[in-house]
Amino acid sequence: MSDTAARLEEKIRDGSARVGILGLGYVGLPLSVEFAAAGLPVLGFDLAPGKVEAVNRGESYIKDVPSERLAPLTQAGRLKATTDFEALGECDAVVICVPTPLSKTKDPDLSMVVEATKSIAARLRSGQLVILESTTYPGTTEELILPLLTEGGLRVGHDFFLAFSPERVDPGNDRFSTRNTPKVIGGFTEACLRVARALYGRAIDTLVPVSSPRAAEMVKLLENTFRSVNIGLVNEVALMCERLEIDVWEVIEAAASKPFGFMPFYPGPGLGGHCIPIDPFYLSWKLKTLDYRARFIELAGEVNSAMPEHVCARVADALNDRCKSVKGSRILVLGVTYKKDIDDVRESPALDILRILERRGARVGYNDPYVPQLDHNETRLESQELLPALAEADAVVIVADHSSYRYREIVDAARLVVDTRNATRGIVSDKIVKI
Ligand SMILES: NC(=O)c1ccc[n+]([C@@H]2O[C@H](COP(=O)([O-])OP(=O)(O)OC[C@H]3O[C@@H](n4cnc5c(N)ncnc54)[C@H](O)[C@@H]3O)[C@@H](O)[C@H]2O)c1
Repeated sequence: MSDTAARLEEKIRDGSARVGILGLGYVGLPLSVEFAAAGLPVLGFDLAPGKVEAVNRGESYIKDVPSERLAPLTQAGRLKATTDFEALGECDAVVICVPTPLSKTKDPDLSMVVEATKSIAARLRSGQLVILESTTYPGTTEELILPLLTEGGLRVGHDFFLAFSPERVDPGNDRFSTRNTPKVIGGFTEACLRVARALYGRAIDTLVPVSSPRAAEMVKLLENTFRSVNIGLVNEVALMCERLEIDVWEVIEAAASKPFGFMPFYPGPGLGGHCIPIDPFYLSWKLKTLDYRARFIELAGEVNSAMPEHVCARVADALNDRCKSVKGSRILVLGVTYKKDIDDVRESPALDILRILERRGARVGYNDPYVPQLDHNETRLESQELLPALAEADAVVIVADHSSYRYREIVDAARLVVDTRNATRGIVSDKIVKI
């Protein structure tokens, strides 16, 4: 073990190591709070001045991070934020938590990871630890990050340390947060893994070391591909059940009684969020460069991305049964976030459903207690007041089944309810159509 690594480990242990977090979003802000709460001085970096100012005022913009938890840390000076990237040189550890979206052609867009790495590389000094947390394809840390960091001549594992550790945060999950979700870590060398473990060991309860950054990158993609494929399977089972005139929800519930060998997944209006609809395509893209077709990923993507169209077809059929057309009907979408009880609309299937229904001539609106305004088709929609909107709507589509909705009252007040989440379970009414 080199002296450099031992010194860094000691600084982490005695609480004097400064941690820099690049990207203060859904991943970076909770992580910053966790490190600061564990007694390490944290400096958050973001390009968005609004986020930086909010953090410095102790105001959280992430639902899972209460301002009451953030404010004492900023007041005590343990957590600060800045847009001045010069301060990266002062940090002993830097964790990259920037977005990894897909391009229009569904290829990985690593431009923000590259930008963030370049800003570190320009100030890299001996004794620093760099960790990538953004989800990406296996090989990124080694093939993309490492060459940028070694341009100045510093040696990985000797002068500086490099690791990949995937973020697994599940927004809206009350039971598992950053601290008590086990953390997978892959270091570039033994020393890299050791210092990365020392760092996360301060703030995370359980660490799961693996042999390399590329194994750690693959772990995250296995987890998200597992979800995407299983959701794709159950969405297809829902389509089959529809043709067989069987209630898919009853079937899943009964199958879930098996105490081994079955794990329930549920059909829905389509995938959403920054992870499940995107990450598996990072893996299939990488495999394409190695002449391998990731067939399960492609098929699941096909089935899942067709669900919003299917929901709209069900709305059209249900209106048709009531001698109405989609064109000219008022259709209210309930819940526009990608899953219940969160405030995130990224990649939400509700956006596709609103767009498809509008394209077919419907007069669309929405209600969502978590989303007061929604940018849609170059206009800004406002969340409508629930009861008057229900009374006016020809059809209501439940897309995000928020716990705060009173579904009995919704069914009573609506003319027609298309339920994509089984939110109306237990309510018997011929107004309800389920997928
Ligand atoms: N949101 C989740 O639930 C979740 C879960 C697990 C993993 N991830 C992964 O974590 C990564 C980050 O996701 P997120 O949801 O936190 O994104 P986010 O959009 O909420 O936050 C990212 C932040 O990075 C900032 N940023 C962009 N470029 C920057 C740069 N060069 N320097 C500094 N800041 C920069 C943005 O302004 C933004 O505030 C992604 O790779 C994502 O796939 C997200």
